[in-house]
Amino acid sequence: MDLLIVGSGFFGLTIAERAASSGRKVVVIDRRHHIGGNAYSEDEPETGIEVHRYGAHLFHTSNPTVWEYVNRFTTFTGYQHRVYTNHRGVVFPLPINLGTINQFFAAAYSPDEAKVLIHELAGEFDVKSAVNLEEKAIALIGRPLYEAFIRDYTAKQWQTDPKNLPAEVISRLPVRYNYDNRYFNDTWEGLPTQGYTAWIERMADHPNIDVCLGTDFFDESQPLHKAATVGEVPIVYTGPIDRYFDDSEGALAWRTLDFDQEILPVGDFQGTPVMNYADADVPFTRIHEFKHFHPERADRYPTDKTVIMREFSRFAEHEDEPYYPVNTADDRARLLAYRELAKGEKDVLFGGRLGTYQYLDMHMAIGSALSMWNNQIA
Ligand code: FDA
Repeated sequence: MDLLIVGSGFFGLTIAERAASSGRKVVVIDRRHHIGGNAYSEDEPETGIEVHRYGAHLFHTSNPTVWEYVNRFTTFTGYQHRVYTNHRGVVFPLPINLGTINQFFAAAYSPDEAKVLIHELAGEFDVKSAVNLEEKAIALIGRPLYEAFIRDYTAKQWQTDPKNLPAEVISRLPVRYNYDNRYFNDTWEGLPTQGYTAWIERMADHPNIDVCLGTDFFDESQPLHKAATVGEVPIVYTGPIDRYFDDSEGALAWRTLDFDQEILPVGDFQGTPVMNYADADVPFTRIHEFKHFHPERADRYPTDKTVIMREFSRFAEHEDEPYYPVNTADDRARLLAYRELAKGEKDVLFGGRLGTYQYLDMHMAIGSALSMWNNQIA
């Protein structure tokens, strides 16, 4: 073995594929029973509908190197992501755009009229002196839109009143003064034509790559554990950085999600892939309806059944899946301490969203793995 990779998400698999293609023998271990990390998807057995097991994953990028690389393993559909939100029983388009504003105020403002209106409403607070998330959001978009679309949704995401969240949690709240409600504005966007798992399996399908599933790096009863491998073989570690050092500098805080999946006996539940629920009286943040991610599969998917998934957000306990870094000032100080410790680890590189304590989109995880390969390993 020339290289041990801990974690088979997009970061680990990109390094594995590059190393294997350049003639290195690679072993990838993952403590889960499937490869692909959080991008893993599977066909729900009763309906055959592809379900994203760890939350909806939409691929988008403006990075030509990443786009060329991912197209070696999969083609992409022409899917374009759009999100709607239910506020007091009325559905509005997101991100906030002229359609949202005109529907909310029951008006027909032109772009310039809407800009003047939002500017006037936003005058209640100043962005620079805002002391919490609520004041900052009001300074950006005004109180009415904030209270309808941001306040309760943010409170549900963070289990915290936005008055008690730091202003830095949001840097901007984009308002579009036209009717464009495409969610992403990247050059390329789409979903893997044959699904995420087919894409991920193709990356790992190389005679120089061995994958060991159900194998935890910290489980000393299996041969490729930490104490037996560090210093013996080069390692790329994509698990949580704090866990690697036994939480010695304190645990880094994460938010996690709970998913409640249901098969419904209707052909179409909500008419769109993602519906947010903006209000406090609905406990979940959004509902995904997976068949709508693949309209081109209409002839394969059942017309009398659908799979929906309600998403609930909360702070992660120690055993929960870490999803989004909380990133308080304490967390940032701990991360710096862990980075110092990481520098001292012989032949161990830390990467990916868990290894660097950062939210990374898939294209960012793949792009940073390609950079690590080119600059530090190859
Ligand atoms: P990832 O978490 O995928 O992989 C790490 C792997 O390491 C896991 O398989 C884990 O089991 C393994 N591991 C950890 N500790 C271990 C140990 N001790 N021993 C062995 N294995 C261990 N991105 C995007 O572009 N579009 C989107 O729409 C979304 N949507 C989205 C929704 C949600 C809810 C989340 C949380 C994230 C997204 N993402 C996303 C981001 C996407 O999931 C992310 O870019 C990739 O998961 C990053 O891949 P990594 O390889 O870094 O981590």
